[in-house]
Amino acid sequence: MLSIVVLISGGGSNLRALLEASEDAEFPARVVAVGADRDADGLEHAERFGIPTFTVPFTSYPSREEWGDALLEQIRQWEPDLTILSGFMRLVPPRVVEALSPWLINTHPAYLPEFPGAHAVRDALAAGVTQTGASLIVVDNGVDAGPIISQERVEVEPGDTEAALHERIKPVERRLLIDAVLDIANGHIDLEELARA
Ligand code: GRF
Repeated sequence: MLSIVVLISGGGSNLRALLEASEDAEFPARVVAVGADRDADGLEHAERFGIPTFTVPFTSYPSREEWGDALLEQIRQWEPDLTILSGFMRLVPPRVVEALSPWLINTHPAYLPEFPGAHAVRDALAAGVTQTGASLIVVDNGVDAGPIISQERVEVEPGDTEAALHERIKPVERRLLIDAVLDIANGHIDLEELARA
């Protein structure tokens, strides 16, 4: 059984999808804790499913490194096999990446390497592209630059607002995430090998 810690910053719709998938006894993974860098709305999904939560407020620490160390300490308490950033809007510091990767993955609402960073959906719309996408990557010390685990194209519809496009991307992210967790748990995806490639 793959044990997972999920880190969020927002609504946690991807987290909710993982929690719902975990309700199936056949699903080979369990979310053991959910963390956030702020009082994220998505923590309520964990509470509803009876999953422990922790918050490491970014603003409570004098530096990104000290915040990262506190975050890592919290994650380690749960001894997860895999840590998933899903809607986590902070760059984790090198010491955290070093300690956890490649068992540290991130969902991103664009077809990387297109549109990395915190405003991927807005940037895709501003670029006037007709297609964007969703990607799942191994976190490294770059910004959304790590090895790609899986990704899928999503059409941009005429008149799309950022919210509408993002809501069309999220279900694809959720499916990529659930499928990847299954494949990682079943050994069909080898994160160590992917990170060495
Ligand atoms: C997701 O699209 C994620 O990839 C991006 O922010 C969004 C968070 O959505 N970083 P949610 O919090 O999972 O609903």
